[in-house]
Amino acid sequence: MMFDVEKIRKDFPILDLRVNGKPLVYLDSAATSQKPLQVLDAVRNYYLTSNSNVHRGVHYLSEQATIVFEKARKTIASFINANPEEIVFTKNSTEALNLLMYSYGMSKIKEGDRIVLSEMEHHSNIVPWQQLAIRKKAELSYIPVNKEGILEENAFSLMEKASITSIMHISNALGTINPIGKMAPLAKENSVFIVDASQSVPHMPIDVKKLGCDFLVFTGHKMLGPMGIGILYGKKELLEEMPPFLFGGEMITEVHKYSSKWSTPPQKFEAGTPDVGAVIGLAKAIDYLSSIGMENIHSHEKELVSYALETAPENVEIYGPKDSSKRAGILSFNVKGIHSHDLSTILDSEGIAIRAGNHCAQPLHEKLGLPGSARASFYLYNTKEEVDALWKGVEKAKKLFGV
Ligand code: ALA
Repeated sequence: MMFDVEKIRKDFPILDLRVNGKPLVYLDSAATSQKPLQVLDAVRNYYLTSNSNVHRGVHYLSEQATIVFEKARKTIASFINANPEEIVFTKNSTEALNLLMYSYGMSKIKEGDRIVLSEMEHHSNIVPWQQLAIRKKAELSYIPVNKEGILEENAFSLMEKASITSIMHISNALGTINPIGKMAPLAKENSVFIVDASQSVPHMPIDVKKLGCDFLVFTGHKMLGPMGIGILYGKKELLEEMPPFLFGGEMITEVHKYSSKWSTPPQKFEAGTPDVGAVIGLAKAIDYLSSIGMENIHSHEKELVSYALETAPENVEIYGPKDSSKRAGILSFNVKGIHSHDLSTILDSEGIAIRAGNHCAQPLHEKLGLPGSARASFYLYNTKEEVDALWKGVEKAKKLFGV
């Protein structure tokens, strides 16, 4: 299929907004993506025609809601080449990582065990493991990041003695694509390899079997879906042996006054009424992305990043890999003499939305010696003209600051 960005943009009416009197240039999709009409319609249609609680009634609407809910689980599973019973619905990636920490971590980790992370992780893939290390007196080790924003491969051997390794696939702050396929075989037997795919599942084809991970987490709102729906993929045999994370209705088969029995996965991890509308919306987002093709989306974003790298103005310091084949559609930078928050405010006055600060990756910024950075992040609906607008806004900021 031809990648037709103008046609795609018609599905996202929010992109026609004017902000501060200027056309909106939305370059903050790594924080959250915009949603196409098809997703909004699917959620509305669900509430108009099928709304009821799932797995709880034998009446028509309850059965209807359960059918569309479980069909959505199948769509999500096949998008990453998993089985439906390996897909657990959570609120977001953060909750999925907390589920792993409380369920797998608290039941398996013992004093002195090693947990391996990398220095570029998002806070949501650091703080839960810090808590586990504190509670269990485990050792926390970090694979270092070099100046170019690439993981030091000679430290991958840390994984050989790890009980848990949890690594992001694509850095939300630098855009670096980590060599997950190379790392997975280094995890020893009886240890688990977790991938935070929050920035990769929305942007490139992902196959959990090819990646070789035990668990993988991602979130719907960064991939054209609604907020409030996240995914934990886990190998069936691991989910089966893990204890529940949240207790209550839906995750049980029997409840007596003093004891209960758990359902099998994934229901064992899905206590309480789920956000059915958000699940339906995410499945529709996946249909939409698949109809365009994940390879096409990945190539489009790479083209935008290469163009942005080639056309960056003077005095713009760009972080992350220089080799564009090692990076995704995320560009972090600083303009010498302008704080990233000031830059972001000036760009906003031009209608341009970027993110500024440490992007929930403070240890990474500390390692690189940066107080923060400005971040432009691209998605399928962005254009080269928007990259031009970004750099034009940066030139304006430079003039205002006299740099
Ligand atoms: N994790 C999101 C980001 O990188 C919120 O902006």
